[in-house]
Amino acid sequence: MDCTILVNRTHLLEKDYIPPLLVEPSILFDAPLKDKRRLLSLPAARAVHLLFQSGRNQGIFLYGISGYRPYDRQKEIYDKRLRESSPDYVNLLIAPPGASEHQTGLALDVSCQDIDFSLENEFATTKEGQWLAANAPLFGFVVRYPKGKESVTGYAWEPWHIRYVTKSLSLYLTMTGLTLEEYYTHPSG
Ligand code: DAL
Ligand code: ZN
Repeated sequence: MDCTILVNRTHLLEKDYIPPLLVEPSILFDAPLKDKRRLLSLPAARAVHLLFQSGRNQGIFLYGISGYRPYDRQKEIYDKRLRESSPDYVNLLIAPPGASEHQTGLALDVSCQDIDFSLENEFATTKEGQWLAANAPLFGFVVRYPKGKESVTGYAWEPWHIRYVTKSLSLYLTMTGLTLEEYYTHPSG
C-alpha cells in the first residue's frame, strides 16, 4: 500500500479493501484483546511502536484506542450516529463507509489515562496530547484533522487521530502547515 494515500469523502476505498500485513503493534492499548482495532498496517505499526517508546522514555504514556476498522464496522458506527443526530453534525465527526482512514490501517486514535482514555478535545490539554502533537511528525505521523482546517479536511478538530504518512511527508506537511488534502491539490505549498 502507498502510505501517502489520500482517503476522504471524495477519495473512497472499495468496500472490500483490506490492507495487506495488518499486525498488532507492540504498544499499550485501551481496547479489547484480539479486537481488530488493535491492528495497524505494518509500516504504521513499526512507526507507532517507536513513537510510543520514545514517549515512554520521557514519562509520557500514550495508549492506542482504535486503529484498523473494516468498512462494515465504519458503516455500523456511521449508521448508528445517523439514527441519533442530524446528518450535518454526524458528517463533521464520522467518515462515511469507504471514506475513513481507519480502513487503511494507517490511522490510530490515541488517548491517555488522565482523560479516562476518551477521545475528546481535552486530550490536547494533557501532557500526553501535547507531546504527541509535537513528536508524531518525527516518526512519520500527522495529526490529521487540525484545528482551523475544518473546512479543508471536512472534519471537526481531532487531536487524538494520527495518520502515518511516512517520515518525509510528515515532516514536509508539518513544515508547510499543509493538510493531506492541500498537499494533493497544491503540493508545493
Ligand atoms: N473520525 C474520523 C473522521 C473517521 O471516522 O474516520
Ligand atoms: Zn480516528
